[in-house]
Amino acid sequence: MTYPTRILRTPDVYCGVNSFHKLPQILKQIQATSVLFITGSSSVQSGALKKITELLKENDIFSYCYSKVLAEPTIEQLEDMLKECREYNVQAVVGLGGGSAVDAAKVAAALFTNRGSVCDYIGIDTIVNVPLPIIAVPTTAGTGSETTQISIVTDNNQQLKRAIVSEKIIPNFAVLDPSLTLTKPPKLTAATGMDALIHALEAYVARNASVYSDTFALKAIELISRNILTAYREGSNIKARENMLLGSYMAGIAFANAGVGAVHAFAYPLGGMYGIPHGIANSVMLPTLMRFNIVGSEERFAILASKLTGDENTSPSDSVAYVSFLCKELDIPSGLKELGICRSSLDDLASGAMNVTRLLENNPRTINYEDAICIYEDAF
Ligand SMILES: [Fe+2]
Repeated sequence: MTYPTRILRTPDVYCGVNSFHKLPQILKQIQATSVLFITGSSSVQSGALKKITELLKENDIFSYCYSKVLAEPTIEQLEDMLKECREYNVQAVVGLGGGSAVDAAKVAAALFTNRGSVCDYIGIDTIVNVPLPIIAVPTTAGTGSETTQISIVTDNNQQLKRAIVSEKIIPNFAVLDPSLTLTKPPKLTAATGMDALIHALEAYVARNASVYSDTFALKAIELISRNILTAYREGSNIKARENMLLGSYMAGIAFANAGVGAVHAFAYPLGGMYGIPHGIANSVMLPTLMRFNIVGSEERFAILASKLTGDENTSPSDSVAYVSFLCKELDIPSGLKELGICRSSLDDLASGAMNVTRLLENNPRTINYEDAICIYEDAF
């Protein structure tokens, strides 16, 4: 059993159906009379943004809204957001939406109190001043961004995903309200739900795993693997949505503390070069990398297999069979070929993945360039 050497703070969390009604109370607690909402078009279409800003208005809190966040935003798009929002006189930033909106809100809150542009803060611990208070209201069960120290940005020039990593951008508050996730379409539910599951799976076998992160990872795996198919097939099932949201939050705690590994490292070039959505890229790389990682970590994968299946009598390889089963049931493409990836880009993909050293160093098994080529080949 490995004891943690450091435990990151978590947000103050409100959970449950209609917990968004707590927002006026949260904002009064931090003496915010005007706030900035960072969100995407789906929160406008679903009516969630209107519902929440009207509630704030009734409580004498003024809302500015930026609702143009796109999925997996580029550095340029985030700069445009800042140009528009930076002059607003607000005391807090609310990220309402999927991981992209929450990540963007974390960047906005930091850039309100720090000079310069987004690029200046890519990397680890580059944020100097404390950001404006951040309130995360996730509307998908996926990234766990509501509790992590990470914002992912897309670097179009280098065709890569890059990260701003700082404890200062861990949200101060999170509202986990399953009623806000009910309108999410099945495809998005599947991709984001698998991303959350992969956070927990990767955190559990990570080199930096501890008994603290393990506890959250294993509970997250249980919650997500028992509920993801119901949430996918029966989107209005509030209990499944609630369990997915809590599972994704717990997976977020696990990976904020233990980190993720090679699945994410190998997914990043697929997103950067081919625009494959994060959850899909991760899911397609998952079985291959699990098979690779089992070697040397058999005991951990045996525990994963029993958590995933709910069956005590399982072998390490049953964990791979189970995630493959989930991907199939969720209609996720089965390999790189189905995603339209060309074999001629194998070298570029492998080089791209090998550059994500922050994550590869945390993977249970060491991966070299030749392994990387074989792993991508295996995923075709
Ligand atoms: Fe992820």
